[in-house]
Amino acid sequence: MHDFKFKNKKLYCENIDVEYLARRFGTPLYVYSYSTLINHYLKLKDAFKSINPLICYSVKANSNMAIIESLINKGAGLDVVSGGELFRALKAGCPANRIVYASVGKTDNEIKEALNAGILFFNVESLPELENINRIARKLDKAARVAIRINPDVEAKTHKFITTGKITNKFGIDLNSAYNILLMRSKFSNIDISGLHIHIGSQITNGEPFVAAITKIIKFIGQLKKKGIGLEYLNIGGGLGIVYDKETPQTAMKFAKKALPLLKATGLKIIMEPGRFIVGNAGIMVTKVLYVKPTPKKKFIIVDAGMNDLIRPALYGAYHQILPLSLVSGRREKVDVVGPICESGDFFAKDRIMPKVSEGDYIAVMSAGAYGFTMASNYNSRRRACEILVSGTDVSVIRDRETYGDLIRNEKY
Ligand code: LLP
Repeated sequence: MHDFKFKNKKLYCENIDVEYLARRFGTPLYVYSYSTLINHYLKLKDAFKSINPLICYSVKANSNMAIIESLINKGAGLDVVSGGELFRALKAGCPANRIVYASVGKTDNEIKEALNAGILFFNVESLPELENINRIARKLDKAARVAIRINPDVEAKTHKFITTGKITNKFGIDLNSAYNILLMRSKFSNIDISGLHIHIGSQITNGEPFVAAITKIIKFIGQLKKKGIGLEYLNIGGGLGIVYDKETPQTAMKFAKKALPLLKATGLKIIMEPGRFIVGNAGIMVTKVLYVKPTPKKKFIIVDAGMNDLIRPALYGAYHQILPLSLVSGRREKVDVVGPICESGDFFAKDRIMPKVSEGDYIAVMSAGAYGFTMASNYNSRRRACEILVSGTDVSVIRDRETYGDLIRNEKY
């Protein structure tokens, strides 16, 4: 399901030897496969072709301009959550009528920018936000299209930090309050409530929570219909899980089989906001072994990437497969793979049994395409990594490694 494969015991990204990239561009290095990226997008598009949904790729998963642009060129729309993401979306050439905008905390300026750009709609997360959008739209003499983000109160069965559809989460509006808002919709002179939105969490590997949430929404749409309230769109969010380890997530086809009958019954135009499903397994992070450090209790493999480059293991205890770029020795051993940062949370794997590696070897942290680079920081004044996009035998640098100068660019002293 991805184009990172071993040929003659060397890891390739499509037709390029990844070790060649590591030597040429240095490490840490993010490497993405164009064909994997596009295939995942097309898999979803294909599975749902009978309803022709607008697939708004979730920019937060990987916001590199080349990644966004590649997807836009295949017909994708974008899901954005900040003025910065909106800026990227427009700059990358996304037609405004393919942009949807979520976030519990949109600022006045961000709202103004999105209204001026003419985005498809805002996913609105609270009554005060709706009132604010109405106020700003009135000032600009515009009609703001919005979808009400419903918090359906379902358990997504994923990590608690990335669960978003429980009533105790900050996201969306409960069904009762949403109903009342829709009943008084004429009070919002400059708002057109054209849809509903749900997004119940991320890395969801089982179809059930989606079905539960969509079922609740369908019932709700029925209630609204009885009151003469019609809608145009249903945005079912993102959240489709991928394989990091031994998960067996639903495929696009299986998901479609469950969801399609429900979605068709709504009669609404369907929008999806996948991020990880499209880009997660389209990227890896390559790092070099600096030292092998045996201690009385452990063996540490110290690499030149840190939690600033990929924070998922530190933040969520997330599992990422780790593979040497060259499979030379058949021996395996139990190690901790750690970075150079001054925190014990700076690790990529703990007590992992993996092929033996030595100083100077390169290793790949797999499935790093989503929430990898986008969550990177300059902690410990480390320069953010270089990003490479491979397509067949073509290699493009899609982000240069930062310089020391970049680190202090906006500082005054
Ligand atoms: N739509 C909304 C409103 C979202 O908040 C998100 C993700 C998505 C779509 C895309 O979700 P996806 O299809 O990628 O699951 N940093 C975490 C994931 C946070 C997800 C935040 N929202 C991680 O590394 O696992």
